[in-house]
Amino acid sequence: MLTIRQAAFDDLGQITEIYNDAIEKTTATFDTEPKTPEEQESWFASHDARHPVLIAARDGLIVGWASLSKWSDRCAYSDTAEISLYIKEEYRGKGIGKELMKAIIQEGQRADLHTVIARIADGNDMSIELCKSFGFQQIGTMREVGKKFGKLLDVHIMQLIY
Ligand SMILES: CC(C)(COP(=O)(O)OP(=O)(O)OC[C@H]1O[C@@H](n2cnc3c(N)ncnc32)[C@H](O)[C@@H]1OP(=O)(O)O)[C@@H](O)C(=O)NCCC(=O)NCCS
Repeated sequence: MLTIRQAAFDDLGQITEIYNDAIEKTTATFDTEPKTPEEQESWFASHDARHPVLIAARDGLIVGWASLSKWSDRCAYSDTAEISLYIKEEYRGKGIGKELMKAIIQEGQRADLHTVIARIADGNDMSIELCKSFGFQQIGTMREVGKKFGKLLDVHIMQLIY
């Protein structure tokens, strides 16, 4: 059975493990070096009631997390957030991403956000399809803005407006 709940500080170790694995193996994030516990603590502290971090757990094990982060510290952007969503490798393709996506979008709505933005590297079709199925529209592409694993990467911008 899958449980989705607000992340607690004690979950940070497992959240970091999932994220660092994605840093090492995927272009889903443009981070290239593993995050230290200290960096993750400050990332976690930058979230609040309007910018939640959710986790999905199965039998006590955290199998995925999602967050809404501030798009910018400039106040006029205060109703805009950026989504992140990571599922532990062995648990992908089993519907957990969909459940977390649904929950985090509901959180954004509850927090009275106006819009959520996703930045997705070209080739991550699963994320693009997942976002589209929740009403995100592709609004543009930034060409060759990243380089990872020796390859230049385009980034698609997708947007959900509540
Ligand atoms: C992308 C990710 C979050 C999706 O979560 P998931 O649990 O693996 O996905 P789900 O099983 O819930 O599938 C969700 C949707 O993805 C799409 N999808 C699934 N498999 C797919 C595939 N092989 N190709 C394209 N789309 C696919 C479908 O739209 C699916 O919905 P459906 O089953 O109703 O058709 C997860 O795979 C992941 O963590 N990947 C690595 C990190 C990442 O890319 N994060 C997103 C950064 S922007």
